[in-house]
Amino acid sequence: MAEKKRILTGDRTTGKLHLGHYVGSLQNRVRLQDDYETFILMADIQALTTHFENPSLINGSIYDVAIDNLSVGLDPNKVTFVQQSQIKAIAELTVFYSMLISVNTLRHNPTIKTEAANYGYNDMTYGFLGYPVSQAADITFCNAELVPVGEDQLPHIEVARKLVRRMNDLYGTNLLEPKAMLSSCTRLMGLDGNSKMGKSLGNAIYLSDSAESVNEKVRLAVTDASRIRAKDPGHPDICTVSKYHKVFNEEEYEDICERCKAGQVGCVACKRRLAEKLNGLLDPFRERRAYYEAHMNEVKEIVNSGSDRANAIGNENVDKIKAAMSLKI
Ligand code: TRP
Repeated sequence: MAEKKRILTGDRTTGKLHLGHYVGSLQNRVRLQDDYETFILMADIQALTTHFENPSLINGSIYDVAIDNLSVGLDPNKVTFVQQSQIKAIAELTVFYSMLISVNTLRHNPTIKTEAANYGYNDMTYGFLGYPVSQAADITFCNAELVPVGEDQLPHIEVARKLVRRMNDLYGTNLLEPKAMLSSCTRLMGLDGNSKMGKSLGNAIYLSDSAESVNEKVRLAVTDASRIRAKDPGHPDICTVSKYHKVFNEEEYEDICERCKAGQVGCVACKRRLAEKLNGLLDPFRERRAYYEAHMNEVKEIVNSGSDRANAIGNENVDKIKAAMSLKI
């Protein structure tokens, strides 16, 4: 039987994951886990690029992120969970790749620019500027072919592809050029109408939120501000709640829009329906989460054994790369 192709993707360990992560990437991970050999990276080193002053937050988030991924249905018997800082090959490859990309190329990376502006960095650290290089090492230490990510990550996948081509051209290595895999919904709006759901924006519904908390967040969501009474005709095209129905309640979306425009359904009922749908999605996640939270040793074992396995794969690959680079005597 042919070997399965590999997928690698990951999350920074700077807090819990939310519905934006779910529709942007986690959902794809679950769908693909049977057909690909999947690696999920808890990116604790990348978390240091922005949170180096708060290592205890990063440390605590490793298990939050692992449980978030397990709760949506990733099967630990099929998927390898990896703690980035434990993988020596990532550190080594990062150094090799760093010779092959210019500082200006990194400075012009649009995602780096946006993030630097959001964090207010006018003089960013070497580590922050260079995290796309380290991300290329994340992806290639195990020769992953596909990377399920949101669209903000595309420039980084491009960096990885360029570095791989350069390595192969220069040293005759056999690294695979990874491809990004986008989901159909690459950007989920915040319920406050902000263009993006984000933990730093305070508008997120977390995978770990209780049903009550989801109900409350949806109740406070921004709708069509010009609509005062339920019988007024609504404007679903400018309403955040309607956008959520499209993503999380597709079967009823058209019907809800029609009834909203005709003044036949009010915002309160429409929100209640959305909250029901969201809780319907989240309930099975809550059940799995409860299991793992009661079995933390199992979670630790999943991360430790996955990291051991990843180290073995990475060390073997790095040995080959070093030989190709004439670094072995
Ligand atoms: N940069 C990614 C994010 O912010 C996280 C990440 C780290 C990642 N390493 C990766 C994603 C490797 C895909 C592949 O979401």
